[in-house]
Amino acid sequence: MRRRGRPKIRRGARVLGLLCAAAVLAAAAGCGQAVPDGETRNIKIGVSIYDQYDTFIGLLTDRFLRLAREKEEALDTTITILQESAAGSQMDQNAQVEDFIRSGCDVICINIVDRTDASVIIDLAETAEIPVIFFNRELVEEDLERWSKLYYVGAMALQSGRLQGRILIDLCRSDFKKVDRNGDGLLQYVMLEGEAGHQDAIMRTQYSVSTVEAAGYRLERLGDEIANWNRAQADNKMTQFLEAHANAIEVVFSNNDEMALGTIDALHRAGVAPEDWPVVLGIDGTPAALQALQKGEMAGTVLNNALGQAQGMLDLACAVATGSPLPNNLEDGKYIRLPYETITPANVAQYLEAG
Ligand code: GAL
Repeated sequence: MRRRGRPKIRRGARVLGLLCAAAVLAAAAGCGQAVPDGETRNIKIGVSIYDQYDTFIGLLTDRFLRLAREKEEALDTTITILQESAAGSQMDQNAQVEDFIRSGCDVICINIVDRTDASVIIDLAETAEIPVIFFNRELVEEDLERWSKLYYVGAMALQSGRLQGRILIDLCRSDFKKVDRNGDGLLQYVMLEGEAGHQDAIMRTQYSVSTVEAAGYRLERLGDEIANWNRAQADNKMTQFLEAHANAIEVVFSNNDEMALGTIDALHRAGVAPEDWPVVLGIDGTPAALQALQKGEMAGTVLNNALGQAQGMLDLACAVATGSPLPNNLEDGKYIRLPYETITPANVAQYLEAG
């Protein structure tokens, strides 16, 4: 058997993880392909993320790396992972895809900057016949249908909004007066939206509210702002909401945890008394949000399963790179979607333990 060596890495690319065992993967995770004795196969995966400062994407790619490393032990195959950040530029990301193709990637994973602008990447990949796994930022269906070797790994966007709404419903059912602090029978809320046009922001904004309304509660919107999934921007927006509405805000629906944490920063800085705090709800289940939940600063969040999505991506990437059978959880030959899970103070300990 050939000695394992570090594969060549293109200049400028950050090596996220190397080396994954085809034989082990074939047996354990359905990816990779047993390699005949005496041969070693190299798999090269190019990964481009939309923004290196996004907390959830950081968790997802860390887990992707960890899972690849966990499979290093019994290697007959080396996997090289090249990671780039597009830093918010679709043009840069398109250029990164060209680089990945030039450096011989077998499969490319794209966290696309602009989900409505995938044609350059699709054309490049199809011409080079290199499969693409889009993740977290979902393309419109027609784009994904353009070639058989395009895939999507993500979550069930609509479900996250519903689950967030249900956390509020449960709180209302157990003690409505505690949520409706001014006793007017309406729930005054503000909405912090992730990003214009992002499938998760659209679904979460819509379904969090409609789920609560469908349960018979009446809501009054005091404000709605986009804060781009970002803690500092949300802090800013919440500060403005507090200036405009003082303690009248009873609920904060935040499209993700980072922005929920930003609202908590603003509440602390404004010196809002604990009894006047709104119910703060997030989504993602990041470690910092779980801590905030445990401290009672957040009322709940919804787990966006970074580990499951990373596993799905790795399994699929290995399978398409080696021509092995595709993972069992692939739907319609294209989609892997992980379900969300509700996290409240009642079950937060188990998520903190799991890490
Ligand atoms: C969402 C996640 C956000 C942000 C966004 C980036 O699924 O909840 O926190 O990471 O993806 O596309």
